[in-house]
Amino acid sequence: MMAVAQAPAATAVLSVRGLKIEFRTEGISFHAVDGVDLDIYPGETAGIVGESGCGKSVTALSILGLIPRPPGYVSADSMRFESEELLQLGVDELRKVRGAGISMIFQEPMTSLDPSFTVQSQMSEVLTAHRGLRGAAIEKESIAVLERLRMPNPRAILRQYPFELSGGMRQRVMIGLAMACSPRLLIADEPTTALDVTVQAQILALLKRIQRDTGTSVLLITHDLGVVAQNCDRVYVMYAGRVVESAPVTDLFKDPLHPYTRALLKAIPNTRGGDEELAVIPGEVPTPARFPAGCRFHPRCASRMDHCDKAIPRLVERKPGHSVACYLYGPETVTA
Ligand SMILES: Nc1ncnc2c1ncn2[C@@H]1O[C@H](COP(=O)(O)OP(=O)(O)OP(=O)(O)O)[C@@H](O)[C@H]1O
Ligand SMILES: [Mg+2]
Repeated sequence: MMAVAQAPAATAVLSVRGLKIEFRTEGISFHAVDGVDLDIYPGETAGIVGESGCGKSVTALSILGLIPRPPGYVSADSMRFESEELLQLGVDELRKVRGAGISMIFQEPMTSLDPSFTVQSQMSEVLTAHRGLRGAAIEKESIAVLERLRMPNPRAILRQYPFELSGGMRQRVMIGLAMACSPRLLIADEPTTALDVTVQAQILALLKRIQRDTGTSVLLITHDLGVVAQNCDRVYVMYAGRVVESAPVTDLFKDPLHPYTRALLKAIPNTRGGDEELAVIPGEVPTPARFPAGCRFHPRCASRMDHCDKAIPRLVERKPGHSVACYLYGPETVTA
């Protein structure tokens, strides 16, 4: 998988340039996301990691055209999925891409599963709308979908309502619904955050297996670098609405360049059972209406220099496939 992730010649499944997401609420307007570039290659798992509020979820929602307007206004230089420019698609065309090309699963499946319908009727809706299945073919395929997820007793599960299932089972059903149309990109936004640790591991293993079997690309959003280490090929580190570092995962852990990434790594709990103190990043994540000038991390940065508060540093590739936006490595600023 790593070979695919690193091959620069591969054409990205999804390629985003200059993504901005502005919210206008009660007389205030702010950019929650401000100039993000993303590339996701065939068959890889790319991660987006960052603290709460840095813009991970809105980035994902914008790819699917799901940011409500108003209050949200999405713009980008380009947002290409396979050969289609998503920004130019109408509502109906976008819905088609959303059903068949790109699927998404969320943190809490209860909010995206309809509580008043059985698993079968939700599965039927997807299989009818996006795959054109009718009659007996629907039930047959529904069972096949659940079997591919190694769900015990799929017939019984199909008759159940979401509230009758455990959290882990609900998330499996969500994954089943998301995969029923064989998407080329699956976006998973904190898919395991609401689950307990053992179930988390099972769901992540399931996602990995599905990816291996189907070859779909995955964009995995998480605030947990441990999840990134175990599941991603490449990672984007976001801070305050911007990508501050992107790298192949092994490289990021071996040689983190951005002071924010270094701080995040130091804040991972020591799983070896030692009593090493966790390094807490001083200060707080700024809210979008109050992003500081210059590098947005500078007020919390241990390596801060005099000019860090003047202009935003540009994300520049400093090693093959490894980019960082920090003045420690060069003077390049964002011009726009
Ligand atoms: N509909 C909305 N209206 C106004 N502001 C919004 C809206 N949705 C998101 N935001 C703001 O955009 C910023 C980014 O939010 P987002 O949900 O993407 O963060 P996140 O990185 O996913 O955080 P978390 O880890 O908590 O899920 C936040 O400041 C949030 O308050
Ligand atoms: Mg989120």
